[in-house]
This record gives sequence, structure tokens and C-alpha cells, in this order.
Amino acid sequence: MSTQIKKVAVCGAGGTMGAGIALVAARGGYQTLCFDLSADALARQRKAAQKFFDRSVEKGRMTPEARDAAMANLVDTTDLNDLADCDMVIEAIFENLDVKKDLFAKLNGICKDETIFASNTSTLSITQIAGGCGREDRVVGMHFCLPAQVMKLIEMSRGINTSDETFNTAWAWTEAAGQISVETQDKPGFILNALLVPFNNDVIRAIEAGLATPEDIDTAIKSGLGYKMGPCTLLDLIGLDTQVLLGEAFFPITLDPRAAVPPLCRRMVAAGKLGNKSGQGLLTGLTREKATEAPSFSIVSGGNSRSFPDGVDGAVAGGDVTIHLGGGYVADASKTAVLVELDTECLGVHTGEDMGDEGSNAVGFARYRNGDDAPSNLIELVRQPNTTDAAINAARAVFEVAGFDTVVCKDLAGRIVDRLVRPKYNDALRFLDEGLATAADMDKTCCMGLGYPDGPIARVTRGGLARHYDVSKAIQDMTGLAGFNPARRAVVAKARQGAS
Ligand SMILES: NC(=O)c1ccc[n+]([C@@H]2O[C@H](COP(=O)([O-])OP(=O)(O)OC[C@H]3O[C@@H](n4cnc5c(N)ncnc54)[C@H](O)[C@@H]3O)[C@@H](O)[C@H]2O)c1
Repeated sequence: MSTQIKKVAVCGAGGTMGAGIALVAARGGYQTLCFDLSADALARQRKAAQKFFDRSVEKGRMTPEARDAAMANLVDTTDLNDLADCDMVIEAIFENLDVKKDLFAKLNGICKDETIFASNTSTLSITQIAGGCGREDRVVGMHFCLPAQVMKLIEMSRGINTSDETFNTAWAWTEAAGQISVETQDKPGFILNALLVPFNNDVIRAIEAGLATPEDIDTAIKSGLGYKMGPCTLLDLIGLDTQVLLGEAFFPITLDPRAAVPPLCRRMVAAGKLGNKSGQGLLTGLTREKATEAPSFSIVSGGNSRSFPDGVDGAVAGGDVTIHLGGGYVADASKTAVLVELDTECLGVHTGEDMGDEGSNAVGFARYRNGDDAPSNLIELVRQPNTTDAAINAARAVFEVAGFDTVVCKDLAGRIVDRLVRPKYNDALRFLDEGLATAADMDKTCCMGLGYPDGPIARVTRGGLARHYDVSKAIQDMTGLAGFNPARRAVVAKARQGAS
């Protein structure tokens, strides 16, 4: 049964996502019926629509005629029967399986036979939402990103019973409406949230473990990986209450411990610290100025340096700070700080560990590198529990005056960036094996949906899968955490490296 899409309905058009989806449809030239239980919500969104299109005209993205045509395409209703002659219904109502199933079952009795039902669910199964609705072959997953009217990406998925005809027609509609789609399986979180939800939980767990401040975690991820937005800023934007709901939806299905809600997330919600919506979340608001004066330093070379393969400028004989490049460490209490370059090992390997209160003027450091890529501008500084503040401040100053970004973290496996990003690479590589999506679609999703400069597959491949194995394995050995188990493709790359 083929469907020519001319008239679209959006259910939940009074809500955040539904309102944005309605703008996409109306702007794309489709008659758009905006349905919601709340007439007030629809009225509010109508004003917001006018404002959005007016701004689009001001910015030169739209002609005044196109704006007027788009506004004329929007029609509000609170009567479900009005949807009878729509060619496609996109639902963006509450994220609840029974509520969504009930809507599709009702619509099945109202809409014409060929109408396609699309769901914007983030976490539920398209097959389950379609189950028993009476037209399981004409239900499709169509996951827009927030805000839908700005973000072009749509994750398209088929339920087990979705027909090719339905999928292809819905896909063609997304393109005709000016969006860019990727195909993914009907699995919790599709691509974007399947990668993002456990990653964000890891960030919260890292804060809980005192790895670093939220501000330094954001700096590390932005400077080390080039993400546009730090994960703590993103979590505060999403809301920690939403992150709890996402974890609660994912964990029972995936049984991935990383998907389980971190205790700190629940405590923050209980304390009313939800993020931007409540005025405070993970970010503390404490910022620090970059150092403008640096102590003098000398270099001791112990071998090849991953951080500074071309050496370091500005060293003097003696100096207040000693920098050991390429390994090696000799205690020197006469210095303000003794800096020790680290690879995958912890600082304690060099300085020793006792009962958990060790500390001295020794500071570990590594300039972040994505495997064998060129070094980034990020210096991760590593402290033990009682490392002196004077040593940390001197280390920060040496690197900041030379133009680097610095962050300070505890002496934990993987420091900040690798600890957070390596499980994500393992997930992406496993998803590839499991056929969740193609490498290109996974990378496109992360670039378009999350603003990453490149996708996880491109990045981990470029940095070297054998190197990814080494880093993941080292962290796995120290933590025992399953997320660091090197994915199959990394094991293969390591074995081939050994064989060559
Ligand atoms: N917020 C996001 O970042 C995001 C991103 C992608 C997808 N989603 C998904 O989009 C859907 C909506 O999320 P939201 O954040 O826009 O929610 P929201 O609470 O802002 O909006 C939901 C809207 O649905 C309406 N509604 C509820 N039950 C209804 C029914 N039976 N019939 C008609 N209208 C009904 C409500 O009145 C409300 O206006 C969810 O499935 C969610 O998982 C959300």
C-alpha cells in the first residue's frame, strides 16, 4: 500500500519535541496538523513558531513569503478525529509505552488505511509501540534531535514488522522536509543515546569518584577531543532528572552496568540540583584564571616522549621545576615541582603508594593524544592525595604560559579523557559488529547530533586500533570495569600488530 505524503500530523505538538517537529513539517511545505491534549500548550507553541520563523527571516534563512506559507501550514487541534485524512502521523507524546500504544491503537481506528505512524521515542522499542495497533507494517521509528527545527539529523529505524514501503516512504519524507537521516536498528537509544547515556553516566561516576572537578572534565573533553560542549554542561542542559529516567529506561533492557543510574545522579535530583532548569547542577561555577607567569624549568630526558616528540622549548639548567620526559623519575625535594611524563601507567608506579595518603612535590602529566594522532593542546596533570598545591600550581603555570590547557585529576586509571572516551569507542566498535548501523552512519550521528568534530569509529581507527587495545587493556587491568574490555576489532588489530 503506497502513501503519498502531503498532510502530516504531529501528536504532542504542544511539547518540546512535537513543536519543533511541526516546524520542520510546516517549513518543508506540508499541511501540518498540530495535535495535543493541551490547547494552552498549542497556543504557546504557535507564538513560539511565529517567533522562530520571524528570526529565520531576519537571519536571511527564509523569505517573508516562505515564513507566511509555513505559518499557514500549521493548524491546531485537540480533537484526534481531525487526523483522519493525514498521510503520516508523527507522535512525540510522553515517553511511556502504554500511552504511545494507546494513541496508535486509537489512531488506527480513525486514520485512513495507508496512513503511516512514526514515533519519536528516544528509548522505547518501535516494535513494542507498534505491537497490537492494527497496522504494525506501517509504523516506523523517526527520532529527531533537540531542537528539531534546528538539528537536521533523524535516526530512522524499522520495527520487526515495518514494511520496506513504509520505511522508504518515511525516509523520503524526511529528505523532502530538508532533514538528513541515518538508519539504525530498533534498539534502546538507537545510535545517539546508546553512545551518549552510558558516557554521561561515566562522567557522573568520575565526579563521584573525585577524579576531577566538573569544570576540568569539560575542559579536558573540549580541549582533548574537540567536542563543542563539555559533558557536564550538556548534562546540566539535559537535566539530571532526565538522565535518571534515561538510565532507568536503558539498564533493565541492556543490563550494561554503565547504563545504570549513578548514585550521585539520584542524590543530585533529591537535592533539587537538576541542572540549568533548577539553577544548579554538576557545574560549580568556580572558574580559575590561567597563569601568566611560569617558574623556570629544566628537562631530563628518559626516552621517547609521547607528549613532546619534538622536545620542549624554554628549558634552562637547574630551574624551580624538573620535567622528566619519556619516563624516569628521581625525587628532588629542593624543587617546587618534579614533573613525570606518564603513558598509560599511574603516577604511583614512579613515586610509590602506601596507605592512600601519599604525596610530595611530584606531579604526573601527559599531553593528550588520540592514539598515534598528533598531540592535542591538553595537558592532564595527575596528583596523589597529598601532592602539594605549590607543585600543582607550578605545573599548571609551566604549561599554561606555554599556551596549553591544563586540568588536574586524581591518580586514577586513564586520567580524564581516556577513562571517559575509551568505553565509548569500545561500544561503537561493538555496535558495528552487531550491525546497529554502518560506521559512516554512526559517525554522522555523532557529528551532526552531538557536534563532535569526527565520529568515534573514524577517531579510534585513525588513532590506531592496536593503541586503543593497549590503552583500554591497561585501564581494564587497573579497574576491572567491563567497559574497558577491548572490543573485538581492537583485539584483531593488536594480534595483527604482533604477527607482523
Ligand atoms: N526532549 C528531548 O530531548 C527528546 C529528544 C528526542 C526525542 N524525544 C522524545 O520525544 C517525545 C516527547 O518528548 P518531549 O521532551 O517533547 O516531551 P514534552 O513533555 O515536552 O511534550 C509532550 C507533549 O505531549 C502531550 N501529550 C501527552 N500525552 C498525549 C496524548 N496522549 N495525546 C496527545 N498529546 C499528548 C503533552 O501535553 C505535551 O505537550 C518522547 O517520546 C521523548 O522520548 C525527546
